[in-house]
Amino acid sequence: MTVKSLIELVGTHTQLMVEMGDFAEILHWGLPVKGNIDNSRLALQRPVPYGRLDNDVAMTLSPELGRGVFSSPGLEGHRNGQDWAPVFVITQITPQEEGTVIVSEDAKAGLRLTTELFLDTFDVVKTRHTLTNLKAGAYQVNRLANTLPLPARANELMTFYGRWVKEFQTERQALPQGGYQQENRRGRTSHEHYPALVAGTAHFNEMQGDVWGFHFAWSGNHRLRVDVKADGRRVMQAEVIYLPGEVSLQQGESLTTPWLYASYSHQGLNGMSHQFHSHVRRSILPCEFAQKPRPIHLNTWEGIYFDHHPDYIMAMATQAADMGVERFIIDDGWFKGRNGDKAGLGDWFLDREKYPQGLAPVVAHVNALGMEFGLWFEPEMINKDSDLFRTHPDWLLAVDGYDQPTGRNQYVIDLQNNAAFNFLFERLDHFLSQYNIAYIKWDMNREVVQPGHLGQAAAHQQTQRYYQLVDKVRAKHPTVEIESCAAGGGRIDFEVLKRTHRFWASDNNDALERQTIQRGMSYFFPPEVMGSHIGASHCHSTRRRHSIAFRGLTALCGHMGIELDPVKESADEKQGFEHYIKLHKMLRPLLHGGRTWRVPTDDQAHQVHAVVANDLSEAVVLVAQLAMPTHALSGHLRIPGLDPQATYRITVLDKPSNYDDIVNYQPPWTESGCELTGDWCESVGLTMPILDAETAMLIKCEKID
Ligand code: GLA
Repeated sequence: MTVKSLIELVGTHTQLMVEMGDFAEILHWGLPVKGNIDNSRLALQRPVPYGRLDNDVAMTLSPELGRGVFSSPGLEGHRNGQDWAPVFVITQITPQEEGTVIVSEDAKAGLRLTTELFLDTFDVVKTRHTLTNLKAGAYQVNRLANTLPLPARANELMTFYGRWVKEFQTERQALPQGGYQQENRRGRTSHEHYPALVAGTAHFNEMQGDVWGFHFAWSGNHRLRVDVKADGRRVMQAEVIYLPGEVSLQQGESLTTPWLYASYSHQGLNGMSHQFHSHVRRSILPCEFAQKPRPIHLNTWEGIYFDHHPDYIMAMATQAADMGVERFIIDDGWFKGRNGDKAGLGDWFLDREKYPQGLAPVVAHVNALGMEFGLWFEPEMINKDSDLFRTHPDWLLAVDGYDQPTGRNQYVIDLQNNAAFNFLFERLDHFLSQYNIAYIKWDMNREVVQPGHLGQAAAHQQTQRYYQLVDKVRAKHPTVEIESCAAGGGRIDFEVLKRTHRFWASDNNDALERQTIQRGMSYFFPPEVMGSHIGASHCHSTRRRHSIAFRGLTALCGHMGIELDPVKESADEKQGFEHYIKLHKMLRPLLHGGRTWRVPTDDQAHQVHAVVANDLSEAVVLVAQLAMPTHALSGHLRIPGLDPQATYRITVLDKPSNYDDIVNYQPPWTESGCELTGDWCESVGLTMPILDAETAMLIKCEKID
């Protein structure tokens, strides 16, 4: 019998106990406990019921049909019809800092599986597999999945869905017999199936319950599933969807899966988010700019669309600087032939008709005003109405002989075509070398249909080449920051964040919709990576109207910017922009460095978002009134996460202009402020004011002793 050993990976609040024998099995993933192999094994040994295989079957990190696991296996593939049911046996275990690397082999099938498993001090697990073909003859990989077990008490899910202008919507559901599955086949991370989900104990919520959150770091096609096996055991699986014939390993070649990130918390969703946010800040985000305050943006898109006149743009920049903007970005419309969304993509040359004096005077003007300059690109895309397509019609990511549907009138460039890849790099490099560009907005506005390279499926490789293109640009221009955008929030995930600095969360700047979108995004991402802009009072995507106060306070909570034409705005509106920009700058270190709390409310019509400083010295609380209050009185505002023993002064920083006109009187604390202990704030709270629908107020808590 194989000698078994136990490996313990310990975070700050969680522990992974992994038994190693012929295979690795996670025995425990939760709160830290002490154990030794004999006792743990004895305590956790499963019974073997009648009517099944005669021996117990473990749920390993890569379930195998050959061991008798009947749920979705970790690997599916074959070598010309052979070697299709491998059974791996551990040959080597190498401890690492915060983790372990496990090498397993099936000598008969000629395959090696290397599993990396880590748990960091922020209690985030990361795991991935590498499959290597050791034998002669190509090994065709159909599936290679990352698998983590869940305990049987995990019986509810929170999943994400969405669409363009409505990203990060959440759905709660029971985890049913038969499980849950989502597939994204859109060729980018997608708005529809964001690659993350949360499983938890019954009725888990923001503050309570055991939760296990999962984030699959991949910007292409994926499948996530949570299976409830017929025997009641639960398992989570995440994988890239490989298209037919896409992955074939010659002898000596390997395939590595993306990382699956996961985190357990016994303090509900907020606890889980704190762990992911800390991990993102320390281990995911490029570190070069960690200390730099995130500059306030003005992005030209909704202000002028394709209508570019340098003098006018410079006037916009002057006004932006007057309001306190720190980075000015020229969006789509600046390059050759780009007068609408039907032509020009691919022709990354300045439009000399629009910019007869070149771009330099505009950049110089922006810089002279003390602002950084940014520029929009959509490198992976091409319009058929472009010089690039006319010269290189064979550069499309497509299958010859088929007419591919367009998306926003455009097609995708085959990044595996080296000439195309080098051309795109050269064009980006040209602009970044020529001008003082601090930032690029890197867009990707269509879904990928029939992704073919030389006739073969190439979706997986296209995503890898996209990463390589960004990496190459970053290596040459390490001080340039990049925003990941894909028609708003279509490419938002941990893998792209390793090489970019922020996300355009949504093309929807409607503050009401943004409240929901931004909340959904907050489960896995800290606020500073979420681009959130004040749009025009008359929202372009929903036609709703909102006050500057509601728009300003909603944008305040992310990486703030303005998305409109300041030249055309009224003096009142401009005063508003200036006010919220000032407020954001004042609160920025707290908003972008503190701990985010999604605060439970007594009335569903409210949404409350708090950020508490890491040293608990201060906090800000945004109370957003999404709809009419359900009752005449809305209960209490309870603020979590403060120092329970300390006293805080609570004051209102910002409120709707009609605040006092809509009631006989509002709660007196909102007028005079009040002093309360942290535990009072958390357990008892303060009476909620009465607010009109689609308004918000901002509250500050400052520790006074
Ligand atoms: C996408 C982006 C927008 C804008 C346009 C430009 O839709 O999400 O913010 O950049 O492209 O065409």
